[in-house]
Amino acid sequence: MITLNVDLDERSYPIFIGQDILNDKSLISHYVSGKQVLIVSNETIASLYLDKVLGLFSDYQCETVILPDGEVYKTYDGIFPIIDRLMEKQFDRRVTLIALGGGVIGDMTGYAAAIYRRGVNFIQIPTTLLAQVDSSVGGKTGVNHPLGKNMIGAFHQPQCVLADTNTLNTLDDRQLSAGLAEVIKYALINSQEFFVWLSNNMTALKQRNSEALEYAIEFSCQDKADVVAADEKEAGQRALLNLGHTFGHAIETGLGYGNCLHGEAIAIGMVMAADLSVRHGWIDTPVLQQIIELIKAANLPTQLPITNDVRISVEKFIELMAGDKKVLDGQLHLILLNALGSSFISADFDIDKLKQTLEAFATG
Ligand code: NAD
Ligand code: GLY
Repeated sequence: MITLNVDLDERSYPIFIGQDILNDKSLISHYVSGKQVLIVSNETIASLYLDKVLGLFSDYQCETVILPDGEVYKTYDGIFPIIDRLMEKQFDRRVTLIALGGGVIGDMTGYAAAIYRRGVNFIQIPTTLLAQVDSSVGGKTGVNHPLGKNMIGAFHQPQCVLADTNTLNTLDDRQLSAGLAEVIKYALINSQEFFVWLSNNMTALKQRNSEALEYAIEFSCQDKADVVAADEKEAGQRALLNLGHTFGHAIETGLGYGNCLHGEAIAIGMVMAADLSVRHGWIDTPVLQQIIELIKAANLPTQLPITNDVRISVEKFIELMAGDKKVLDGQLHLILLNALGSSFISADFDIDKLKQTLEAFATG
């Protein structure tokens, strides 16, 4: 088992990565302070892993909430069943919420934990690659608004993260690839070496080679832990983790939540950020080609779907991007690339070049 640490003073916590972690009752119990536990999952994941996780809490007063499955349910109303159950059972401030699932369950459960009684403990048990490499770490919790992705939320760090890599065996190929998008993101942001490693190991990752997957998860989590420790509330460098997200969130919202997976939208968004970087001369076209090749090798899209009924025009892109969380005092900030494995945040880009990128990718 690999153990990493997110170093945040009194809110520090470990990330455990490895096979069969969910069989270890003593490991998780160390991070549950009271006697009350509420497991939150969805119908798909519960059918696979709920019994195992219930087994970890046989000595506790343990309740379960099973939510419907899908990004479309990651709404403000969607967390009410969690709060209702906590209230009905009169769970006190020492209750621990357990998020058993992908990023949707993790974000919703974390947000419910952040607001119930002004904040209670929670533990992340991520079961998708995307959640194991990104969403379960760092304390961003929340839900979507019809007008903008993740617009309602709170920073609330978990007590620990338990990433049992065995759970990835039941994930379908499309979801595995969606997780690889966030893995590629870490390489593009700050590690050319990891980019080369990914290029050499993409087949092994897609075949779910456990050694390759564990290394990719460890690298990603270590990178994220370092960034979060330095800038928990995204005053500066944490924004780099949003490479491709301004475009990607516009794509997710524009196409309708759930129509394009989060990881797929981020993959297209990263290509758009690279395209804009080329137009400024900050990276060369061959670098853009290398990025496109790696994203394609991960079986991810590099362009918006055109078969979908919903199209995104340049005007729609601009409207959606204007609501991005990285708009400060009316000015949009984007994460761009100045080399393979090197990124920066900037509001100092040419608006005409941005329009050229949008024109190249818009479908409407
Ligand atoms: P998801 O949670 O919707 O899970 C994807 C699908 O896989 C779902 O149908 C789920 O039921 C199923 N599933 C989960 N685990 C499974 C398993 N082991 N076996 C079989 N099926 C399984 O999607 P996701 O990609 O995990 O997460 C995307 C969400 O994460 C988005 O809402 C995104 O905004 C959020 N996110 C948050 C952060 C953050 O820092 N908080 C970072 C990145 C993404
Ligand atoms: N996924 C971006 C972040 O956690 O900051």
